[in-house]
Formats: sequence, C-alpha cells, structure tokens
Amino acid sequence: MVDLAAYKPYLSPALAKTTDLVIDRGEGSYLWDTDGRRYLDWVQGIAVNALGHRHPRVVAAIKAQVDKLLTASYNMVSYEPTLEWARRIAEVAPGDLGTTFFSNGGAEAVDGAIKLARAHTGRPGIIAFKGSFHGRTLGATSVTASNAKYRLGYDPLVGGIDFTTYPAAGQAPAGYTADELTDFALGQLEDLFAYQRAPQSVAAILMEPIQGEGGYVVPPTRFVQRVRELCDQHGILLIFDEIQAGFGRTGTFFASENFGVVPDIMTIGKAMAGGLPASGVVSTPAIMSSWGPGRHGGTFGGNPVVAAAGLAVLDEFAEADILTNVNTVGAYLSDKLDALMQQFPIITDSRGLGLMRAIELNHLDGSPGGDLLEAVRRSCLDKGLFTLSCGVKGNGLRFATPLNTTIAELDEGLEILTTALSEVTSKEVG
Ligand SMILES: Cc1ncc(COP(=O)(O)O)c(C=O)c1O
Repeated sequence: MVDLAAYKPYLSPALAKTTDLVIDRGEGSYLWDTDGRRYLDWVQGIAVNALGHRHPRVVAAIKAQVDKLLTASYNMVSYEPTLEWARRIAEVAPGDLGTTFFSNGGAEAVDGAIKLARAHTGRPGIIAFKGSFHGRTLGATSVTASNAKYRLGYDPLVGGIDFTTYPAAGQAPAGYTADELTDFALGQLEDLFAYQRAPQSVAAILMEPIQGEGGYVVPPTRFVQRVRELCDQHGILLIFDEIQAGFGRTGTFFASENFGVVPDIMTIGKAMAGGLPASGVVSTPAIMSSWGPGRHGGTFGGNPVVAAAGLAVLDEFAEADILTNVNTVGAYLSDKLDALMQQFPIITDSRGLGLMRAIELNHLDGSPGGDLLEAVRRSCLDKGLFTLSCGVKGNGLRFATPLNTTIAELDEGLEILTTALSEVTSKEVG
C-alpha cells in the first residue's frame, strides 16, 4: 500500500484529484492499482487511450524507436517517423488541411492555433464559446469558459477574446428545441458582431465541434454550418478544437465530418499518439505559410518516439477498422443509456455521437445533480468501474471507453453503473 500522504509535501495540490488510486499497470480496457485491484477504465487517461492501455502495436513501435533515438530536437533536425506522421495526418485530415505543426499537449496546440490565426489575418480578435474547455496555459485559459474557477485569479488574461453562446441547453432559456437553440446562439453571435467586436477585427472563431469537458454537447448541424458561412463572409478563420472529439471518438475520423464543415485550422491531441504526450496544429499549406521560420517552435514537439507511436495508432485505425467499431458499439451504448434514462428519473439527458456519449443527472426537483453524480461515481469505483464527470455543473457522466472496446466490456460496466444508479436513486426517492 503506497502512503500517498507521505508524498503530499512534494507535489503541488493544484490538481483536483478525484481518487486516491495509485495505478501500477494497465492493459486494454483495464487498470490495476498497486494493491492488485482491477478496474474497468472508462477514463482512459481522459480520452487519450483510444486503443486502450498499452496497445501491443503502439508498444512495439515505441520500443523499436527507443532503441534508435529519443530526441535530437525536431527544431534542428528531421526524423523519418515525424515526417511520415505528418504525411499520414494529411491523409485523414478534412478538406485541404494537411500541414502540421507538432507540439506536446492540447493547450499548447490551442495557443499555437491562436497565434497562427493572428499571424495569418493580422487581426487581434478571437471569439470563443461559453462552456468551452481548451486547456490551462495562459492562452488556452483565456479562451476557456467551462468553469469560472479555471480563470479565477489569472487576470489580465490574453486580450482580444470575446465569448459567445454555444447552442447548449444550459445556455439558453429552458425548453428550447434544437432549432430555437440554433437561432438563439446565432443571434448572440450576430449581436456580438453588431455591438462589441466588429467582424473585420476578428482573426478566428474557436470552437469545439462537440463540447467535451463542457458536457459532450453536440451542436445542431445548422449552427455549425452557419458559423462556417459567417466566417467566410467576414474573412474570419474557423478553428476547430478536435483535441477530445477527434481521432475517431465520434465515429468519424474528425468530429467536423459529422457536420459537413471543414475548418481552416484544427488542433489535435489526446488520442493521437496512443498514450504519449502529443498535439498538433493542422491547417492548409496557404495558412501555414504565414508562419515563417522561427515564428513558432518548441524543444520537444515532433519527438520521434511519439511519432512512431502516432504512426502505429493510424495503422491500427485503418487495419482494425476502429471507426466501424465506434459506430457499432456506440449505437449499442446509446440504446443502453437511453434505456437507463427511462428506468432512472435522475437521468435527465442521454446524448452524444459514436463513443463520445454522456448522461446528465439532476435531482427530482430539477436542481443540478452534481452530488448525485459524485455518489454514482464513488459507488462505481467501489465496484471496480473508473468513470469521468463532465458538464459546467459537474452533473454529467462521460463515457471515455477505448474505441476498440467490446459489447462484453460495455455490458460489464453498464451492470455496475445500473447498480450504482439504483442505490443513488433509492436515496433520492427516499
Ligand atoms: C477540447 C480540449 N481542448 C484542449 C484540451 C487541453 O489539453 P491538454 O490537457 O492536453 O493541455 C482539452 C483537455 O481536456 C480538451 O478536451
């Protein structure tokens, strides 16, 4: 048993750890703690391990590269795996996006995308959305509005950033239909242009094509398409943050494909290197050409070991037909969650695309059920299921299973979840 308390003085308390788990090893959909206890892992490094823990193909690629070279800095030299990784990303990227700048973590890529948009347009303004999460660097914090505590105490943040409404139920008058949400959110954006931020001063609109941490909120297609039109009309670049929704999670390679919209710039991260830290800014050759040599950089980005892992991920996606699995088991999960919503009145919404799914919990009087959600999560953990919350009010349960998960694994987790929901519901009902 590891004595966590003994290590406490040595580690910053900044991380909002939700468990005391000390993890020893992982394999596929499972984790084992240092006491040998096994957990079905529906967190997967916060939607990172798309192929599960230590996928054999990824591990083999990493081991082979480790035996050759760890780094010589991609800032100075080139490596074959990284060159090839960029070419392969171009093959799966939407439209004529296909020129990549590699970095290490999601927030760093978001900062890069903002810099690229400003460099290309010569304009200062960035419009982001309420409910969005883009990361923790100063730049990414400045465009994040999924929780005011993420911004608290950090002013002045990066300037030139305005927020507008995402077509999410919690951001509009209650009971709005998808069409009403779309009109409401578009009206807010038009108001922002009219009253506050002239569109000709806006470099980019930055949006998650599906809000992740904000609650796995899928916007109506008409909204996304109209945002694209407004960008075209005003010479504004559209940046999609695909860090969580990209790499197959929604059942298409990138989430943008669900809406038939191609962004000008996208940020990628999380799942792209099978568990190793990686991110990227991907754009068109024309937009990327605004970044002359030295205008952006970084010591570690494009690391050859990470690139080798990234190539293995792309190989596995193609050869194991991961997207088909996401759509098949995602539909199964969706049906099961809809059925749970019928069974348990504390579940008030079941939503998502592919394996990017969430349920929302609320009290019977309609008040947000963040405490119910925490009780469900604790009960699941006690029973061997590790889960992840989401949502501005902390009352969403997001399913971040591996994308190669099986119906049998889903059934195993759903059985635990059903028991936990029964316990928590019986307390709520009294
Ligand atoms: C959509 C999105 N963008 C950016 C980030 C930040 O990524 P990182 O934590 O790797 O900096 C996240 C992390 O959850 C995310 O979900």
